Amino acid sequence: MATNQLLPLLLLALVAGSHADSIAVYWGQNGNEGTLADTCSSGLYAYVILAFLTTFGNGQTPVLNLAGHCDPSAGTCTSLSSDIQSCQSQGVKVFLSLGGAVGSYSLSSAEDAQSVANYLWDNFLGGSSSSRPLGDAVLDGIDFDIEATNGDFFDDLAKDLAQFSSQGKKVYLTAAPQCPYPDAHLNTALQTGIFDYVWIQFYNNPSCQYSSGSIDDFIREWNTWISRVTATSFFLGLPASPAAAGSGYIPPYELVCRVLPAIKGPKYGGIMLWNRYYDVINNYSATVKSIVCTASHT
Ligand SMILES: *[C@@H]1O[C@H](CO)[C@@H](O)[C@H](O)[C@H]1NC(C)=O
Repeated sequence: MATNQLLPLLLLALVAGSHADSIAVYWGQNGNEGTLADTCSSGLYAYVILAFLTTFGNGQTPVLNLAGHCDPSAGTCTSLSSDIQSCQSQGVKVFLSLGGAVGSYSLSSAEDAQSVANYLWDNFLGGSSSSRPLGDAVLDGIDFDIEATNGDFFDDLAKDLAQFSSQGKKVYLTAAPQCPYPDAHLNTALQTGIFDYVWIQFYNNPSCQYSSGSIDDFIREWNTWISRVTATSFFLGLPASPAAAGSGYIPPYELVCRVLPAIKGPKYGGIMLWNRYYDVINNYSATVKSIVCTASHT
């Protein structure tokens, strides 16, 4: 076959392959989103992020909040251990997210960061404690969804957590900054350059999120992120339905056939969704994964 006949076929193959790649989803803030085990066995996700550890640092007793799923203070979240292990046996990595939009968290010193790192290691990672909130399961890593505080000492926390990787199983580090670069709370942590996955919240941020009228500002912001921050890969963070956020929702076809092709490159990892509840209601992940772009629609 001549080259001029191959090229259209090659382009078609590239376009047809424009699926969303890996999907990361937040789970834990809505009791009606289904179990963690079902979330993982859906086969839709590569990463499930448990949301959130809402209180920590500055001498406070850490508090896990998983909404209506279970009551950490009554010890009922330990039943999630078998779910976590079943997720992991299916190749889904499970992370614990620190922070969130509502919470009481800050770090007062490098020593405080180390003590939070030790707490996380002993209670959720490879260490041991008599009061592990999620039982014996060893999580794959820690997610930084820091939306309050000035971000001081979160770089120390990241480095302290990374140190634990030397004790055997790797401790993944992920972060969910807001899309205006640099992030007001996570920049010092991200500048360590030791994060694995950075899922940028391109929603509730009209100045940098995608809008159908103008894709250019969005692409510029995406390129700023991937050039200024060193990380294994970057994910486009999105609401899983129009109701999941104030703004920033992108309909599936537009996402797969217009937006993703514009940012796909060596640093692109996939999409992150807020959250499992809205993904179930809107069937967003399944729809996105099923889409094949046709030339007439692009
Ligand atoms: C969700 O989308 C997938 C892919 O298009 C489809 O096969 C499935 O039937 C949908 N599920 C629901 C509940 O609509």
